[in-house]
Amino acid sequence: MPLFYSNSHFYHTLMGITYRHHRNERFRAVARWIPEGADVLDVCCGDGALSRYLPEATRYRGLDRSPAFLRSARRRGRPVEYFDVGDGPLPKSQVVVCQVSLYQFHPRVDEMLARLYAAAQQRLIVSESVWSLTRSKLPGVAPVIAWAMRTEGMADGYFRFTPEALDRLFEAYRPALRHSGAICGGMDRLFVLDKAGARPVAAEY
Ligand SMILES: C[S@@+](CC[C@H](N)C(=O)[O-])C[C@H]1O[C@@H](n2cnc3c(N)ncnc32)[C@H](O)[C@@H]1O
Repeated sequence: MPLFYSNSHFYHTLMGITYRHHRNERFRAVARWIPEGADVLDVCCGDGALSRYLPEATRYRGLDRSPAFLRSARRRGRPVEYFDVGDGPLPKSQVVVCQVSLYQFHPRVDEMLARLYAAAQQRLIVSESVWSLTRSKLPGVAPVIAWAMRTEGMADGYFRFTPEALDRLFEAYRPALRHSGAICGGMDRLFVLDKAGARPVAAEY
């Protein structure tokens, strides 16, 4: 059996290696902002692992277009659907989450963020990495990671946000910004936006 039977499988394996150390910490930081009983839409959900961290009685729905991730999620009984979020409106949900995925839509990140915000009826939670193996100085590592991401249909396998670029991106949402800050020892940045007029939700640090 070949070591990697598809690009998606290869990419999935790389994701596991790349984020192994801080993925769980990120899920916990995101889940703290999700109120009990909420409807949660996880956009670019990967294998839907966030669903394991949610408070009681939340209804989880994950969207992704990767067959390998969808298969992996379904094997674990997680409710995920095929959905290409690249164009058109997203389904509406009380809480919308997008983790480590905005960078893939470069240079159309403003447009993607606007569609995520439009889909969130109450709260949008975005966690984005400001660290990546595509910046590794180890010989050969950066090109291999970037290649795997490009072959998954991403515009630029090397693009990653800096903390300053993320702050600029979210500047337009300042009135809705409930929280922003570093998580996972500074490897990720977390942004929580609340819709004006929405009933306040009570999940805090
Ligand atoms: C870096 S992974 C993050 C996965 C997950 N959010 C997590 O935190 O583990 C990026 C995900 O975005 C998905 N993705 C990329 N472009 C997409 C698109 N146009 N529509 C749906 N999913 C997409 C990939 O398949 C992959 O699962």
